[in-house]
Amino acid sequence: MLITWWYLYLAARSIAKQSLKMASILQKLITPMFSGPKEPPRNKVTVVGVGQVGMACAISILLRELVDELALVDVMEDKLKGEMMDLQHGSLFLKTPKIVADKDYSVTANSRIVVVTAGVRQQEGESRLNLVQRNVNIFKHIVPQIVKYSPNCIIIVVSNPVDVLTYVTWKLSGLPMHRVIGSGTNLDSARFRFLIADKLGIHPSSFNGWILGEHGDTSVPVWSGTNVAGVNLQTLNPDIGTDDDSENWKETHKMVVESAYEVIKLKGYTNWAIGLSVADLTESLIKNMNRIHPVSTMVKGMYGIGEEVYLSLPCVLNNGGVASVVNMTLTESEVAQLQGSASTLWDIQRDLKDV
Ligand SMILES: NC(=O)c1ccc[n+]([C@@H]2O[C@H](COP(=O)([O-])OP(=O)(O)OC[C@H]3O[C@@H](n4cnc5c(N)ncnc54)[C@H](O)[C@@H]3O)[C@@H](O)[C@H]2O)c1
Repeated sequence: MLITWWYLYLAARSIAKQSLKMASILQKLITPMFSGPKEPPRNKVTVVGVGQVGMACAISILLRELVDELALVDVMEDKLKGEMMDLQHGSLFLKTPKIVADKDYSVTANSRIVVVTAGVRQQEGESRLNLVQRNVNIFKHIVPQIVKYSPNCIIIVVSNPVDVLTYVTWKLSGLPMHRVIGSGTNLDSARFRFLIADKLGIHPSSFNGWILGEHGDTSVPVWSGTNVAGVNLQTLNPDIGTDDDSENWKETHKMVVESAYEVIKLKGYTNWAIGLSVADLTESLIKNMNRIHPVSTMVKGMYGIGEEVYLSLPCVLNNGGVASVVNMTLTESEVAQLQGSASTLWDIQRDLKDV
């Protein structure tokens, strides 16, 4: 009898040892306290297009610790996988636990914000507007896929010509206009603020100046609103921004317009400043900040503009998108320039096919 018990004891001990051996390190280490369907991400951002601009947006958003999931999409599968892996390998130094990528848009599901940077970029000397029909054709594929998987998202369009493509995205998406935003003159204004602040020896955040209208050649510098600590520069120099100005501040706006061409000539593309500026917009949207940025929005009915065009005005951004637009006290000449931007864009939009 004693011997039988002894054998039973040995058998039980060997089974227990066996099953302990079979359990994985994970099973031995972690005791689950909860099982059930996974929670959807709360602050997911997708970047479509992992070229120079897309990756600058991605890294800027990651470094600002804005999201719990980042998704990347592109048509170039190897490049896409390589970029995803490279970012994932930096996970130790980031606070975004999930970085995913696929050419299939199901990977973008439940995004709060989708940043579109896909498309062809300008060649040396090529204007942004020249790119238009090539990028419209690409957008016809991208936009319906974005909306299919994230019907409640806010889309930030970055690809050029950004104002026209924001209009195209609005049309193709069926989203309300306040949830389709173009990065617009957010970058032009940042360049303007850097250049003037540099001349004045102060930080760009301490010089307040706005560039509105088209992102590009017909952009409008609002000289009447330029100020430092509330001191209006036009009061100090009534000729500022005009041809009569002996200090030639107008040159600064010319430099803003030419700066993309210059950077492209020097390094082949622009990316860091646009990436940083898109992360700044993302922060205002995700954190519901009601911060004001010059971004491209639907301006029909404002400043005497009668056409459905997207142009940059100072917009209040929160987690619903463009919550409102600030009515600036513009001079007659500034309003005329805005209207000029609008008709330049309308002339192009009129000729677009299949939008
Ligand atoms: N708004 C701004 O202020 C601003 C500033 C700089 C550049 N841009 C624009 O951003 C865009 C991207 O510039 P870039 O330098 O990153 O170009 P890039 O050529 O480096 O990258 C473009 C990426 O888009 C991808 N792509 C092409 N077709 C696609 C599709 N159907 N679906 C998904 N991905 C696709 C390409 O594979 C490529 O990876 C250009 O249109 C450029 O003019 C805008």
